[in-house]
Parts: sequence; C-alpha cells; structure tokens
Amino acid sequence: MPSRFIPGFSKLSKEEKLRIISSELEDKKHFYQDIESLNHSDPEMQSRLEKFSENTLGNFPLPYGIAPNFLINNKFYTVPMVTEESSVVAAASAAAKFWSENGGFHAEIKGTIKIGQLHFCWFGEKSYLLESMDKLKSFLLKNTLHITKSMKERGGGVTGIELLDFTDRLDKYYQLRVSFLTSESMGANFINSVLEEMALLMKEYFSGEGKQESLEIIMSILSNYTPDCLVECHVEAGLKAFEPFTGTGKEKEFARRFKMAVDIAGIDTYRAVTHNKGIFNGIDAVALATANDFRAVEAAGHAYAARSGSYSSLSSVDLTDRAFRMKLELPLAIGTVGGLTRLHPIAKWSYEILNKPNVEELMMIIASAGLASNFAAVRSLVTSGIQKGHMKMHLVNILSSLNASASDQKKAIEHFKEHRVTYHEVKEYLASLKNSQ
Ligand code: MEV
Repeated sequence: MPSRFIPGFSKLSKEEKLRIISSELEDKKHFYQDIESLNHSDPEMQSRLEKFSENTLGNFPLPYGIAPNFLINNKFYTVPMVTEESSVVAAASAAAKFWSENGGFHAEIKGTIKIGQLHFCWFGEKSYLLESMDKLKSFLLKNTLHITKSMKERGGGVTGIELLDFTDRLDKYYQLRVSFLTSESMGANFINSVLEEMALLMKEYFSGEGKQESLEIIMSILSNYTPDCLVECHVEAGLKAFEPFTGTGKEKEFARRFKMAVDIAGIDTYRAVTHNKGIFNGIDAVALATANDFRAVEAAGHAYAARSGSYSSLSSVDLTDRAFRMKLELPLAIGTVGGLTRLHPIAKWSYEILNKPNVEELMMIIASAGLASNFAAVRSLVTSGIQKGHMKMHLVNILSSLNASASDQKKAIEHFKEHRVTYHEVKEYLASLKNSQ
C-alpha cells in the first residue's frame, strides 16, 4: 500500500485508483480478485452503489439478517438487521420471541422535533439585537417559505426560532436555535438548506438596518442532539415469565440480579458505555438495514445518556415482588424517505419486510430492537455469561479463518456443543482430525 502523498487521487478513474492502491500490496492478484468478486453483477447497480460515496474501489458487504417475531404494540414485525457481529441477530431474535409470549414491546413517541443552529457573533448593542428578534423571526419565516412550503404541506416545517445568548461563556457569541418537524424524512438536508438561507437573510435584514458591521455569521448546521425527537419502549411481565431461563423458584433471584446489572450501568460510566453498546447493537443494525444515519443516532443516544451530567444507562428496570418492567428511552432522528432509504437496493426491501412503516413506527421498531438486544445481553451476563453463546456463534468464523473443510466444520460444530470454544481449542481440534485421518 503506498504510504506516501497521492496527488489528485479523486480525479483518477476507478481502474487507476485500483492500480495505485494495489501497486505495493504483496498479493495484488488476490486483491483484484476479491474486489472483483464482490462487485454487483449488474453494472448499472454497481455504478449506483459506487456513487453513494467517493473514491470507491468496490463493495464491502455485511450480513443482512432477520430477527423475526417482534410484537410491538400488538403488531408483529419481522425486523431486518445489518451487523458484522455474531450473536447480535440471534440474541435479538430470542428476546423478541420471549417477549412476544409475554405481552410484547410497548412503545410510544414522545416527540419528533429536531434542532438546527445558526451560530453568530454580534458586535453591536445587545439590547438592539433582543429588540430586533420579533421582526427578524417573521422576516426569516416569510422569506424561507419557498424552501419550507412543500415540507409544510407534509405536516413539517419550522416550528420555532429562539435566540440564545452565550456571551457569558464565549465573547459576542449568540445562537438562533431553530426547531423543525421533518415529516417522514430525517431532514438533515432540509434543515441545513433552511439554516443556510436564514443566515443569508439575517445578513440582508441587518444590512437593511444599517447594522451589517454588527453581525458575523459563524456557521449554520443541524444539531444531531435531538432530545425532543424521542421514543420510549418498555416490556413488562410477572416474574413467573422468567421460569424458562431459571427453572422454577429462581425467577425472583434472576430478576433481582438483572435489575442489579442495569442499576450498575446507571451509576458507573465504564459499565454504562458497554451496556449502551449492547443497546446500539440492535439499534445500529436496524438503522443500517433501513439506510439510516447510524452515526447521528449513536451521537444523539450517547449525548442523551449523559444528559444528567454523567454518562449513564439508557435503560432502566423497575422491580416489585411480582413484576418486572424494563424501559428504554432514547432520541432517534431517522427517516423513511430521503437519503439512501429508497436508493439502496436492499434497504428498500427492508421497508417492504417491515410492511412500510411510517417514521414514528420505525422509531418504535428500532427502539424495540435496542431493548431486545439489551435484555438478551443482560440476561446472558447475569446467568451463563456472554462467552458461551457468543463463542458458539463465533465458532463458524473461527473455522472459516482456519480454512476447515465442510466435513471438518460439521464435526467441530458437533464437538463444541459439549466443549468450550476458544481459537486455540478449535485449532487443536482441527489438527487432531487431520492426525486421525
Ligand atoms: C457485546 O457486543 C455487547 C455486550 O457487551 C453488552 C453488555 O455488556 O451489556 C454483551
């Protein structure tokens, strides 16, 4: 791989890019073969995929899986998930099945407001700026109608503009915090277009007042922190429901240990991050399968987890002598239209598989997948431990990486039903098969 400055890389053809990148690879031939073998058979589709990003050499496939049996607000969903991590889909599926037999997931939307920010410095009189606000807001709203009109027709648009004064923390710095409803779309492009137009309008407004020298626009961009675009999801059951996991008589102990594990994530950041990562195992997988911006979802979720001032669990458990209730609440700024939602050849099928949910329904599905993943992880952690199930699932990856033949793989899978899976043990076992031939 050339570890040097590569001038004009983006201007090169794909063939030239491949040539440069492969030029110093040891096994150039197999690099080409692997890239080529994963190209789409339809050149038009391949070209579409390549245009999603830049400097594209080929495709990087991830498994597209299904977690069936999600009962959410009394409706069944079959949930597509994209993840590279073994056990995630199996664990979410197992939790979905369990909760489908125990009332399912109960989800509700607590808000769908998104935020955009216009950051600026004001060098004039503060009182003048404050007095100008009402007139300025009307000016901005009226003169952005050409951008907001069609979103308004779909029930969205700008819902408020607020002036925030940060001058006590940053000299001269103010912000217009603009709130939006973006209907079925995530709305990033819409919000950013409106904000950039507002920035120009603000300059125009203050120029008209002879105050152009007082204003400096710093930047206009949406905020990925969306605490008012919020979904809540919970599961609840009598403790008896846990009998299949624990055997008779141990349900209470299981529930107590489970709550303790969640409470630990409530007070300890080191544990909370791992706990929430388990939640995002489910959330990201559905966000990816529906071509949503999982980085935005993650960023907002983690910021929400720290809203009290210290980073904490996104889920919580209420436990009484008889009943267990587990809740997950998090912001989810997603869309069912726009972006790659319909352009991605597989994402569009995810919407079909999910029975064409609207955006609020999709928020509830994604939250349920997060809660299912969290429930499954904590359940394993407080009982058998995570490695038993995980390594069983990972066994196939280990066998593939050791180039085990199909028949050896079959034997190994049988053998490791009764034995602990480690890379070393699997290697030894395969060697023993060879020796016994
Ligand atoms: C692994 O991907 C996720 C877990 O670490 C989550 C957790 O610890 O709760 C198992």
